[in-house]
Amino acid sequence: MEIVCVTGAGGYVASWAVKELLGKGYIVHGTVRDPDDEKKNGHLKKLEHAKERLHLFKADLLDYASLCTAIHGCTGVIHVATPVPAGKVTDPQKEMLEPAIAGTRNVMNACLKAKVNKVVVVSSILAVAVNPSWPKDRTMDENCWTDAEFCMKTEKWYCAGKAISEREALEFGKKNNINVVTVCPSVVFGPMLQSTLCTTNIILLNLFKGKNSFNLIEFDKAEEDIDIPIVDVRDCAKALLLAYEKPEAEGRYLCSPHVLRTKALIQLLKNLFPHYNYPTDQLRVSNEELNYTCEKIMNLGWNYRSLEKTLVDSVERMKEAGLLN
Ligand SMILES: NC(=O)c1ccc[n+]([C@@H]2O[C@H](COP(=O)([O-])OP(=O)(O)OC[C@H]3O[C@@H](n4cnc5c(N)ncnc54)[C@H](OP(=O)(O)O)[C@@H]3O)[C@@H](O)[C@H]2O)c1
Repeated sequence: MEIVCVTGAGGYVASWAVKELLGKGYIVHGTVRDPDDEKKNGHLKKLEHAKERLHLFKADLLDYASLCTAIHGCTGVIHVATPVPAGKVTDPQKEMLEPAIAGTRNVMNACLKAKVNKVVVVSSILAVAVNPSWPKDRTMDENCWTDAEFCMKTEKWYCAGKAISEREALEFGKKNNINVVTVCPSVVFGPMLQSTLCTTNIILLNLFKGKNSFNLIEFDKAEEDIDIPIVDVRDCAKALLLAYEKPEAEGRYLCSPHVLRTKALIQLLKNLFPHYNYPTDQLRVSNEELNYTCEKIMNLGWNYRSLEKTLVDSVERMKEAGLLN
């Protein structure tokens, strides 16, 4: 049976990737920073087939030896772990850039050492779209790269880290003859499997409590009505599996089927769940449009569920978890 390693296995996106892999019969090596932290990782042990086929390894992205132990014997790796910002960063080098960039280098070197065939790296739409020199009238696709230098200057550390690490991973693959594919999801919503809140769950929860906090993930215009690109966490996990399994998959894949303005999202939530207290701030209309295409991943056979379904399932899960009344 094929063995696939998933880094940061207990996280929001990674947990769904682990679930998908187990459902398809793979043996999974999941890296977590603390296997005994039941709050963060207990849900993994309850996944179907976890008892027989999920093995958790204690590993930190900055500890190369720990990654080597987890990746040894694997045919493939899905590299998901990265710190996702949840507010003001005090030491960007240490908190954001090192784990993203040096962490991805460590994962790639461990893959080389273990002679892994295929690596899927989870990047972000923020490694694509933060590019002031991209022509406004040109649709963004996989050829568009976030300008990492611009991000550093404007203190968008997460965006810089994602863009640099994604680019390096692709170059590493070419240089060392490893098949590396990257997937760039947008804002991920949808039901969580874990019991601790990740940043995008916090953002969604905040909308039900009257607070617009998209600025947490370096969408820095909380006072503007901006385009919000969204993908369902289950569809995101399916995209990772497609990228992993399809032999023709190559390069990067944008993965974001829905885009709507902040106000339109709030209105949609109001229609679906009228009894919450939504943000009432007067948002200034932004004239920046996020104009991109996901044609490449659609051509790989990917499809997605409706945004309404994503939001309804997110809310149901949050209620089950006691996070929302
Ligand atoms: N959520 C989104 O909207 C979104 C959108 C686009 C891309 N992404 C990408 O998707 C990936 C997962 O994000 P998520 O939303 O699922 O966030 P998450 O739930 O916070 O998961 C992040 C994971 O990274 C792990 N991690 C962080 N620093 C680490 C380190 N130094 N060593 C080892 N593991 C470390 C965390 O482990 P601990 O549990 O030990 O902290 C956690 O498992 C990230 O690469 C993110 O950039 C997310």
